[in-house]
This record gives sequence, structure tokens and C-alpha cells, in this order.
Amino acid sequence: MKTWLMRKIHVVVVFGFMFGVTRLVAQSAEPPDSSPASLIKILTSRSQITLMVGTDRHLYQLGFGLTNAAVALPKKTPGRDDDFYPSAGDGYVFEPALKVTHADGNTSTDLEFVRSDYSELDSNVSLTRIELRDAYYPFHVFLNFKTYRAEDVIEEWAEYVHEETNALTLERFASAAPEFPTGDYWLTQFHGDWAKEAQMTEEKLTFGIKVLDSKLGVRAQKYRTPVFLLSRNGPAAETTGEIYGGALGWSGSYQFAFEMNPQGRLRTLAGINPFDSAYHLRAGELFSTPKMFWSWSDAGAGQVSRNFHRWARKYILRHPENLRPVLLNNWEATRFDFNETKLLSLFDSAKALGAEVFLLDDGWFGERFPRDNDHAGLGDWQVNPRKLPHGLSYLAKAAAGRGLGFGIWLEPEMVNPESELYQRHPDWVIAQPHRPLDLQRNHLVLDLTRPATREFSWSAIDRTLRSNPGITFMKWDCNRFITQPGSSYLPAGEQSHLWIDYVRALYGNMDRFATNFPDVMGMLCAGGGGRVDFEALRRFDSFWPSDCTDPLDRVFIQWGYSYFYPACAMAAHVTRMGNRPFKFTLDVAMSGALGFDVDWQKLSPQQRTEATAAVAPYKEDLRPIVQQGDLYRLVSPYHGQRSAFDYVSADCHRSVLFVYQIGSGNAESVKLAGLDPQGHYHVSEVNLSPGKNSHLPENGRVLDGAALMRDGLNPDCTRKFDSEVIDLTADH
Ligand code: DGJ
Repeated sequence: MKTWLMRKIHVVVVFGFMFGVTRLVAQSAEPPDSSPASLIKILTSRSQITLMVGTDRHLYQLGFGLTNAAVALPKKTPGRDDDFYPSAGDGYVFEPALKVTHADGNTSTDLEFVRSDYSELDSNVSLTRIELRDAYYPFHVFLNFKTYRAEDVIEEWAEYVHEETNALTLERFASAAPEFPTGDYWLTQFHGDWAKEAQMTEEKLTFGIKVLDSKLGVRAQKYRTPVFLLSRNGPAAETTGEIYGGALGWSGSYQFAFEMNPQGRLRTLAGINPFDSAYHLRAGELFSTPKMFWSWSDAGAGQVSRNFHRWARKYILRHPENLRPVLLNNWEATRFDFNETKLLSLFDSAKALGAEVFLLDDGWFGERFPRDNDHAGLGDWQVNPRKLPHGLSYLAKAAAGRGLGFGIWLEPEMVNPESELYQRHPDWVIAQPHRPLDLQRNHLVLDLTRPATREFSWSAIDRTLRSNPGITFMKWDCNRFITQPGSSYLPAGEQSHLWIDYVRALYGNMDRFATNFPDVMGMLCAGGGGRVDFEALRRFDSFWPSDCTDPLDRVFIQWGYSYFYPACAMAAHVTRMGNRPFKFTLDVAMSGALGFDVDWQKLSPQQRTEATAAVAPYKEDLRPIVQQGDLYRLVSPYHGQRSAFDYVSADCHRSVLFVYQIGSGNAESVKLAGLDPQGHYHVSEVNLSPGKNSHLPENGRVLDGAALMRDGLNPDCTRKFDSEVIDLTADH
């Protein structure tokens, strides 16, 4: 104990000497006394960002890694390149976190430390707020760090406010710009496209800047989910090595810039994409950047994922305590081609299947311009009387009569030109004057920066839900991005505000949904996974990962998302896409928030039996473990012919193992993880197709956790599309 303390004091003294620290503070596991601060520690139970105020009053970073680890000693007195939150124009020549053109035209900013405040928001969450101020201008930056101690997640964002004589212009505004400890770094990104989301690619970073971004504004994450992994000194591994997980909470254009400077030091800038987004900030107005979420582990990517999952389940998702219901959605089954009779028969199917909510998708609205295909009707949120003569409340009641919740699809930010809405308000869309309208899926984005449009968009949700109180679920879709960023509402000099003000207005409406309809569950969707981030997810219960429901592709898509987003949020529906073996399809969907998107009448009797037989045990037995357990990825589909992972309940008494064979050939054992080594687990294969016996050699045996983790199980999966779901229950 004594040696440990002596070493820490020594480290502080050395730093003090090296940096000319303004005031030495003794290190302790306690939050730092930080007024005036010299060392500021942003702490979770396992990780720490260490900051320091130099004699020049600039804020520097000493480390980002293990809690209380000795941080590397810098070789020289810090200069502009070492600033924790570097600003452009006064010595810093790399990619800046901040670039401001002040009211008088000065393009430089020189931030000095003013104060640091620490507060405990509750026994687990604390906030450190550091104020910096320009050495000359009345321009203030607040760097905020909210820490979630037990979950090892740090939420970081910046705020700006000023009292200059006129508006100033923000040109760069990163949420975070940390430097990473010396080493080699491998970056994993999660890119894709429509129906091919969350594909993982890893590369070693070298000198210069690697930018991952979106310039789409709306449905902004179509090509890339705003998350990444940085692995230190080797490619990312599941159970070993230092991994930094980064996730940005922003549903608009974003940018991650990974810059390795000539000395080989890596800094990551994360935030709103500065592209075309200069923002004029008036005196007294507060500009708040999106939140950047970090989790660090020296035990590999698996631990980073579990940190994010636990945290998201507790602090992000709505209704954290509720298990996600089994849905029957009609989109894949009917597209726009349905009527009341068809829906009532699907309700019966849902009931027979054991589903809990029926979700009515696109196509229920439009009077003068019926939404019978994607060419017309978007924006006219009145029920189509020809298709649904008795309206939505009638349907909600009919669903309730069968013990089902009733969900509805909305796309409240969009409009077809062939609609009453567009005929009344052609100026409500995002478009560029003097350019032909650029349609995507035959529609346009509503300009939410215009208050009347924003209100209209909200009223579409509000009226639908309020006048049909039987609605228990809402899918919020968004099927195009911005290609002509013009607003007829914003002044000519503020067109660049569109990207940011749109997202703020969107969050305003999403907040209204979440607060006005606390009992209505919400699913985020944007033509599949075009809008999946932790900020939007604060207002929702789940998200639609992809329009691709071919289970073979879903193995990869769900694997990719699993690095950040918990299984309870990931809607996974059984469809006939790809026409894969039905058991494989069911097994893949059962590893997330299970749902169905099938026409019951078109399933064979055997498939109906299989589906019904799968739903009951999923709901009763597997769902709590899948949706609330800890995930351990065991075999990567990227590395061979198989994918395998298990979920383990918090008390380690229960686990479910999923094994998917995506190619022929692999017969190795699957070693479990996360179990209690001393626990005795009863092994039983579940979700066997009716009439089939298990060929798992260990089926029915009791094995101890240590053996299961050391020697593993030997699933009978060797041919493409073989799959097994194995339940492990410990004796008490
Ligand atoms: C795109 C979504 O991803 C689908 O699930 C479906 O809701 C369609 N839009 C409806 O237009």
C-alpha cells in the first residue's frame, strides 16, 4: 500500500516538475479537488482520462487508459500540439477540435483554463465540467465528462458561449479530440449500405488523416454507423488487448478524423461533420456539441461491448426494464397490398404464432393520393378509407381483442410531391432553388428548421397516437437523405445551419414523442439501419438494423451491431428472404428482439409448427437472457465457416449459446465464456425442429462452467445452414 502511494506521489511530482504544474494535488482514488486544478482525473471503475493544467494555463492530456496507471512521461515541455482540445489559428497546425472566426474577423482562438467542477449526480454517475476561456475574447468553452463508473463509459461533449459584440462563426466543433497513448493502432469501422449495414473492416493507421464520415444529413448513417474501435498494438481481439470503443450520439452528418502526426502520435476528432456547416453563434447563445461516448478496456473488444450494452440498457434505451415484445410486422408479407380483411387475418396469424404486437407498416394512409405504392401519399396522414374503412382505432381494438398490441408505421419527416401536403406547401421541403427536384424513392425531406413544418411533422405523430389510444407501438421510418441542402426558411447567410438545426428539430420532435407517449414503444428505422446511434436511441426502445433479413447476411449485420448495441434493441425478424432453411432463420432471429414478417398463409404447415414452437420458449425462457444478459462473442463469422456467441445472465445461472454454420466444414468445439467456473450447468439443446432429436453429444449432461469454458461443447453443425441453440442452466 505504502509503495503504491509513494509511487503515485512520485509520479505526480515528476509531472509537476516536467510540466510546471500550477499546484500539485495528491493523487487518490477520490475525485480530484479541482478548483483551481492541476491534475484532473476523469474516472470510471477501470478507466481514466488524466488531464493537467500547465503553467501556461493550457489544458493537456496525460493519459487515457487504466484507472490509476502511471501515465507516460512526456519528453518535453508541452506546446500547442499537446493541447487537449486544440484550436486553430494560434500555433496548432494539425486538424483542430475548434475553429472560430471571432466577431472581429480574427480566426484564432487561444483557450486557457479557468476552472473545473466536479459533481456526483448519483452514486454511479459524476460530471466533471472544465471551463476554458479565450485569452483575449469573451469566448468560453465548457468541456463536459459524464462518467458511468460501474459500466466504464465516459460521455464527453463541449459547449460554447460568448459575449462578443456580434455573432461569431464556429467552423470546427469537435465533441472530443483525445490523444491516444503511444503505440500502433488498428481502426475497425462499421460501414455498409442499404441492406448491408454494419460490415466490419479493420486497418492499421499510418501517418496522415483517416476520415470516416457522413455528409447525408438525414438517414445519415446509411453508409456507416457512427462508431469505431481502436485497438492498441495489434488488431482487435475479443478477450485480450487494449481497445477504445467510440460512439457518437448524432443522427446527422458526422465526422471521425484519426490523425497520426509526424511523431506518430494519434489524435481522434469526433463530432458533427464540419463540412458545409459553419454556424453563426450570437452572443449569449449556447452551442452544445453531440455527445461522444467512450469505453476502454484492456481485456479486448468483448468487454468494451458488454460495457456499452449494460450502460445502454440502463441509461439510454426507453423502458429498460421491459423485455421487447415479439412482433408480427406486415411489410415483407404484404408491402402496400392489404386491406382490413387481410390485416384481421394477419392478427389471427399473430395470435396463433404467439406474437405480442402487430405492427402495421407503410401504406395505411392517403385519401386523395392513396399510398398504394411509394409514388404518392407520403405526408397525408389520414387513414385510407378504401383500405381501412373503420380506421385505426377499430384495428387497435381488434388486435387487443386477440391479446395483441397494435403498432403503426410513420415517416413524419418526408413527403411525396404527389400529396396534398406538397400541393399546399411546396416550400416546406429541403431543395435548392433553380435546380430540378432530386427525388429519392419518389420523395423529399421536409424542412424541419421551419417551425410550421416542424409542428406539422409532430402533429402527424401526435394526432395519430392521440386519436387512436389503442396504439402501443410506433415505427419511425426515414427513407432518404439530403442531396440538395437548401432551406427556404433559413436566411441566405445561414443555409449552412441546415445540417445542424434539422437534427436539433428532429430530436425536439422525438423528445415530444417520448415524453407525451411514455407507454408507446418506439422503433427507430431509416430504410433499415440508416439511423442507429445512442442519441436517437435515448427516445426509442429498439431499432431496425437492416431491410436485409436473409439470415445468412443477418449473421454478419447483427454481429457488427453487437459491438455497441445490445440485443434487446436489435429487431431481428423471421422472413422468407433468401429462402434459407427455416430453423436457421428462426435461430438467427432468436438471438435478438425476435419478430416475424411473414404471410402466415404462405408458410408450410411444418414451418408454422416450427415457428409456433419457437416463440413460446423464446418468450418464457430465452428472452430474458438474450435481451438482458451479457454477450460473449466466441467464433467470428469473419474468420471461418461459423459464428457462435453466448449470452449469460447477470447471476451467471443461465446462458444461451447460438451456433450458426455459414459454410460447410467446421467441426471444432465451441468454448463458452462468461460462466461461473464452479457452476454446474445442465446442457440442453432447444429450438429443435418438431420431431427432431438433438445430436449434440453433451445434450442432457451436467458440466461444470470451467469445463465448458475450457473444453467447450461440440455442436452438430458442419453443413452450411446448420444451427443450434443451447440452453445452459446452473443448479442452484
Ligand atoms: C423501409 C423500412 O426499413 C422497411 O422496414 C419498411 O418499413 C419500408 N421502409 C416501408 O416503406
